[in-house]
Amino acid sequence: MTKITIAIDGFSSTGKSTVAKRLAAELGYVYVDSGAMYRAVTLYAMQHGFIETDCFDKEGLISNLDHIKISFKFNPEKGFAEVYLNDENVEKNIRTLEVSKFVSQVATVSEVREQLVLQQQNFGKDKGVVMDGRDIGTVVFPDAELKIFMTASAEKRAKRRYDELRERGDEVCYEDVLHNVQTRDHIDSTREDSPLVMADDAIKVDNSNMSLEEQFEVVLELSEEKIKLQHKKKRH
Ligand code: DC
Repeated sequence: MTKITIAIDGFSSTGKSTVAKRLAAELGYVYVDSGAMYRAVTLYAMQHGFIETDCFDKEGLISNLDHIKISFKFNPEKGFAEVYLNDENVEKNIRTLEVSKFVSQVATVSEVREQLVLQQQNFGKDKGVVMDGRDIGTVVFPDAELKIFMTASAEKRAKRRYDELRERGDEVCYEDVLHNVQTRDHIDSTREDSPLVMADDAIKVDNSNMSLEEQFEVVLELSEEKIKLQHKKKRH
């Protein structure tokens, strides 16, 4: 069957990754969590003193970008590819509220974006990829056959994120998580380089009142339609 490129963009904590992972597994596609790549760069910056409480040494990070190697390795137990920073599995360490607090700032740096976008385009060069992020349908794969834009109210998203963090044992309070979600929305949507905007040809899915199952069904149906259409086009 013909393979397509599926771009899933949207605000933070809209459940993009959960749906994208499951969709990739269902279609036999590669899943790439582009947000994890920005998070890994942020973790590196924190570990190497380029980010401290109120201070972000952007130039220091830029001059060290060559020392950052990000890769993904499939974990058969979990059923998806986990992210590695310089060969160390950082899948859990990149999901803390600390990293979430700084990642949007790191993602405004054009030098970081340039490097990560090239790597993302390389991951998708053979199609058969589901990638989620903020600029996948607009910058990374402007020609993606299917573009989905996920959205939900900030409160719903914060509640989901809060539950997730508590479940893994992180001591966080709901107000902090909500504040982080709103701040990131603002930074992500107003930055100069590749801001979060819906591509003209994207399909909007508001999942404020949808279960994960319903979301998945919607996205799977859209994907199957596009794959069939693309298959027909190729045969004619
Ligand atoms: O999807 P996420 O919440 O893990 O993403 C973390 C941050 O990375 C998000 O606040 C913005 C940034 N990001 C981006 O700028 N471009 C992407 N393609 C993916 C994420």
